[in-house]
Amino acid sequence: MKNYLIDTHAHIDMIEAPINNILQQMETAGVKKVINPSVEVKTMNKIIELSKTYENIYAMLGIYPSEAKTYSDDVEEFIIKNRKNIVAIGEIGLDYYWDKSFKEKQCEIFAKQIKLANKLNLPIVIHDRDAHKDTFDILSEFNSCSPILFHCFSGSVEFMQECTKKGWYIANGGVVTFKNAVKTKEVAQQVPLDKLVLETDSPYLTPVPFRGKPNTPAFVKYVAEEIAKLRDMALEELTDITTQNAERFFGI
Ligand code: NI
Repeated sequence: MKNYLIDTHAHIDMIEAPINNILQQMETAGVKKVINPSVEVKTMNKIIELSKTYENIYAMLGIYPSEAKTYSDDVEEFIIKNRKNIVAIGEIGLDYYWDKSFKEKQCEIFAKQIKLANKLNLPIVIHDRDAHKDTFDILSEFNSCSPILFHCFSGSVEFMQECTKKGWYIANGGVVTFKNAVKTKEVAQQVPLDKLVLETDSPYLTPVPFRGKPNTPAFVKYVAEEIAKLRDMALEELTDITTQNAERFFGI
C-alpha cells in the first residue's frame, strides 16, 4: 500500500520559494515525488540540474506549444543527450486558446516530439487547451508506443472516455477543487481509477483553500482530498491507487 502522494506536474523551476522550503512542505504533506516539466529551451538545463541534485525531483523535457517556433535540431540533441536523466517528454501538445495564429507549426512540432518520445521509448505528457480534436487525431496518427498522459485535463466526460479507451491517462489538478468546475468534477468522478493521476501545475492553478496564492507541490493533497470526497472513497485508497498509477506511467 502506497501511503504517499506524487505530484505528476509542477514547474519547480518557476516557483519563487527556496527549494528547501518546497521540499520541506512536501515532506510534511506526505508528497514524496514530483515531476518537473519543461516548457522552453532556456530552462532545460536548470530542470536537469534540479533532478540530479534532489532525488525526489524528476525531470521531463519538451517544448510547449506556444514555444513551438523555438524547436530545433539542437533542442532535440539536448533531449537525446539527457535521455537517462528524464522520465518523459513533456509538456507538449496544442494550445488554441493562446495561440490560434500558428496552428500548423504547433501541429508539426507536436508530431516531431511524439516521434522523438517513441524513439527514446519515453512516455508523453500532453498540454491540450481548446484543441481536443487535433490533439486526439495527431496522437492517434503519430504515436506508436509511448504511454500518454493528459496534464490538467479540461475535456468533457465523453472526451475523457475516448482517451481512456485508448489506454491514455488523465491528470487532475487544483481546478477540481473550484466550486464552478462542474465538468472537471464530473471527469474526476468517472475516470477509470487505473488511469487517474494527480498534479498541481505549480506555481499555477492553486487549489482551494489557497486559491489566489502561489501553488506548491505539497498542495496536491487538497486535490487528493477533493477527488476522494467526489468519489466517496477513502483518501488512503485514492492515494495508493494514484501513486501506483504515476509510478507505473513514469517508471519511477
Ligand atoms: Ni504545466
